[in-house]
Amino acid sequence: VKGSAGIVGGLSLGGFAGAQDEGVVRIGSDIPYKPFEYRTQSGELTGFDVELADAIFQELGREYEFVQTGFDTIIPSLNNGNFRIIMSAMTINDQRDQQVDFSEPYFIAYQTVAILKGSDVQSVEDLEGKTVAVQKGTTGEAAAQQLKKRLNGNLNIDSYDQIPGAFNALLNNQAAAVINDNAVNLQYADERDSIVMLEGEGQAAQEFESAPPYLTLTVERYGIAFRQDDDEFRRQVNEALNAVIGSGRYAEIYKEYFTG
Ligand code: ARG
Repeated sequence: VKGSAGIVGGLSLGGFAGAQDEGVVRIGSDIPYKPFEYRTQSGELTGFDVELADAIFQELGREYEFVQTGFDTIIPSLNNGNFRIIMSAMTINDQRDQQVDFSEPYFIAYQTVAILKGSDVQSVEDLEGKTVAVQKGTTGEAAAQQLKKRLNGNLNIDSYDQIPGAFNALLNNQAAAVINDNAVNLQYADERDSIVMLEGEGQAAQEFESAPPYLTLTVERYGIAFRQDDDEFRRQVNEALNAVIGSGRYAEIYKEYFTG
């Protein structure tokens, strides 16, 4: 990711860029991924990413709309011009960085293991010979592939197009675990008495003083993705993101979804 270029004070660059691309900014996202992007029972689109987008675009004075897209093909879809940016709880990593540019990170996440209450799986080693469910094209799938190596290939990975498919497999005993982002797994554990997080330490404990009580296979950071030729817009969005953080709006949205 290239650093954002400094901007000369007083220059009417903002106005110029605005005139250049007016209209509704399309945001590609794979929905549902609660609590980041999902529909309420009445059908209203909401979630952490959705509200963060709302705050950012309010800051930019631009309109936006979310466009549903499969996560597995979300990057080619961005590069094909189907939408302008990706906001989809997307983890910044080197492989993706070859194909897109990312905003500043806006969220810290971990890969975690959701299991059924009373499961005989008490550590990742206990997954040997079993099946784990993941979402196709995600870092959860990549973490499962890493684990498979660790278990000398003795792990079956079932990849689902969307995360509810993976959780259905867990609930129907077609999988012993779901490997997926912590906040989303915690959301399922919250909503379903039968789903719990696999406990343990892990990567988060290596990186932070206070780590969550569940096992963390990775530490990741979410970013907004842009086409690699969209530097000026990326700079504007980063600036707006910083303003949303600086004004306390980010903390408000965070609190709404992650505490209390
Ligand atoms: N953070 C993970 C990744 O980047 C999973 C994201 C899935 N997002 C979604 N909206 N389904 O691979």
